[in-house]
Amino acid sequence: MKKLRTYYTQFRHNSNQAMERKWILPLALGSIVSLFLLFLTTLTSFDGSPFLFFYHPSAVLGGSSPFVESQLKPIPVSTLPPPPRFAYLISGSAGDGLMLRRTLLALYHPLNQYVVHLDREASSEERLGLQKFVKDHQVFNKFGNVRMIVKANLVTYRGPTMVANTLHAAAILLKEGGDWDWFINLSASDYPLVTQDDFHYFSDLLHTFSYLPRDLNFIDHTSNIGWKEFHRAKPIIIDPGLYSLKKADVFWVTQRRSVPTAFKLFTGKRC
Ligand SMILES: *[C@@H]1O[C@H](CO)[C@@H](O)[C@H](O)[C@H]1NC(C)=O
Repeated sequence: MKKLRTYYTQFRHNSNQAMERKWILPLALGSIVSLFLLFLTTLTSFDGSPFLFFYHPSAVLGGSSPFVESQLKPIPVSTLPPPPRFAYLISGSAGDGLMLRRTLLALYHPLNQYVVHLDREASSEERLGLQKFVKDHQVFNKFGNVRMIVKANLVTYRGPTMVANTLHAAAILLKEGGDWDWFINLSASDYPLVTQDDFHYFSDLLHTFSYLPRDLNFIDHTSNIGWKEFHRAKPIIIDPGLYSLKKADVFWVTQRRSVPTAFKLFTGKRC
């Protein structure tokens, strides 16, 4: 009250003719806006409840309780779609052991399936450390849903060894992981931005995917490979991961081959 008074007094002191004229337009606009708001509050929505929710007497006065939580009714269990199940591959290389554990713990949910892989560039101590971590973890043991590819492969980023490693993990998950709905391959440094399962906020991955058709595919693919026939199918690319024990990038040789005819080539992107 004291403060309000002070402002008011200052306004009066500073006012002069010009100031007063300057204030006419905002004042008129303010009045129009207030009148419009007043008019809106008299409108009602289709079900007869007041249009502006803040003017709802029970929302303001809180008929029984002012909190919206008390007005939420739990959804009957039978109408909930069955929770989706994810199969994860989390892979890393030398020095990624701890990061991979952190990602695995953040992604962990008893309903999902997990395969972890540290490639052959990681030291055997590092791989043993991860193996022990998976083996000794009480919850992983209880649900038996985390597996490690112990016989490590050498994986070259972008190379066929990367695809082979991904397919290897998918094969393990298909064979031993039971029924799951979606396969997600991540690297140790991919830390999730949403939780797997968040009971209170319903903004988590499991909840979001509950309502999606289970045969939905996030990989867009086509056999119409266009320019890629020349630039991707004909060059010969060597992946050192196939023959060497040391990691090196893929490289191109000068010869080209004709497009293979034994199988059809597809190209895809994640959508
Ligand atoms: C997932 O696997 C595909 C095929 O091997 C690969 O191209 C992609 O980079 C992988 N993604 C991650 C995050 O490792």
